[in-house]
Amino acid sequence: MRTARGAGDAGRSGKCDRCPGFLGPRRVIILSSVRLMESRLLIVGGGRMGGALVHGLLAAQWRSADIVVVEPSAERRSELAAEFPVLEVRADVTGIDDVDAAVLAVKPAVGEQACRALSTTGVNRVLSIMAGVPLARLESWLAPSTAVVRAMPNTPATVRAGVSAIAAGSGAAEADLQWAEELLGAVGHVVRLPEGSLDAVTGLSGSGPAYVFLVVEALIGAGMAVGLSQEVSRELATDTLVGAARLLVESGQTPESLREQVTSPGGTTEAGLRVLEERGVRVAITAAVAAATERSRQMAV
Ligand SMILES: NC(=O)c1ccc[n+]([C@@H]2O[C@H](COP(=O)([O-])OP(=O)(O)OC[C@H]3O[C@@H](n4cnc5c(N)ncnc54)[C@H](OP(=O)(O)O)[C@@H]3O)[C@@H](O)[C@H]2O)c1
Repeated sequence: MRTARGAGDAGRSGKCDRCPGFLGPRRVIILSSVRLMESRLLIVGGGRMGGALVHGLLAAQWRSADIVVVEPSAERRSELAAEFPVLEVRADVTGIDDVDAAVLAVKPAVGEQACRALSTTGVNRVLSIMAGVPLARLESWLAPSTAVVRAMPNTPATVRAGVSAIAAGSGAAEADLQWAEELLGAVGHVVRLPEGSLDAVTGLSGSGPAYVFLVVEALIGAGMAVGLSQEVSRELATDTLVGAARLLVESGQTPESLREQVTSPGGTTEAGLRVLEERGVRVAITAAVAAATERSRQMAV
């Protein structure tokens, strides 16, 4: 499994450090024998994830001029215009002829319609972040020569701390995967997996932020139950989560080792952990990920 870590691994204007030989998306396309024009990235759907991607790409030194967003909601277009003043945001793809790559960030229910519209734009490379829409389905909706990469990101992408898994379609080459890694690398960490693993990814990291929020909610309530105010409980629980996550990443140690280091025999942490083990917290988490994975399988359109 190959991984690419961190927002901005691949700079917008240069080559990706991890992708030698990869010419970034700012390729020059020949539209006629006399006209040269640089291609832009088309983001279809300017909602939460589409907006997060724009934010991440601009932070990774892309220029607003290199991106065009299609978003049918007038209200959302106004919000995007306020957030990204120079960005071009259109109501539909009509008249767009300077794009060769697109990100599909619409809800799965409108995926087919969005794919069919793309066939009028000359796009030949597509990254879909739509949950539950298989590569074979995407390929059947897009022009036959389109290279398709499917991704499963998660909501921390909105603060450039996401994790995404990507899978290659039948016509996607190494350069297409590197391109997808560059885009999603602007909003977090990227791993490559076969498409068959994406339901499990959905069950773990796609739904995972919600499991963690539930744990934080429970910790806040538990802090109040032992006499702390809601405000103090919230602050302690949140900072404990952030601190533990940073320690895990920055120390490079396993979660088992870090847990053992704070668990003295007969001490307070041991008393608390014993209750979690006795009440089956591991069993519950395993069952939760399995249930979400199964639901993802069932929901595939
Ligand atoms: N949010 C997550 O955590 C997450 C995680 C993994 C994957 N995903 C996937 O990411 C995709 C986007 O999710 P989201 O949370 O960003 O949804 P969202 O906030 O609803 O954004 C989708 C946007 O696409 C617009 N849209 C609808 N039809 C369109 C069309 N034909 N052409 C262009 N734009 C169109 C929608 O406008 P209207 O509001 O007017 O319909 C909306 O603004 C979904 O497929 C979801 O499965 C999301």
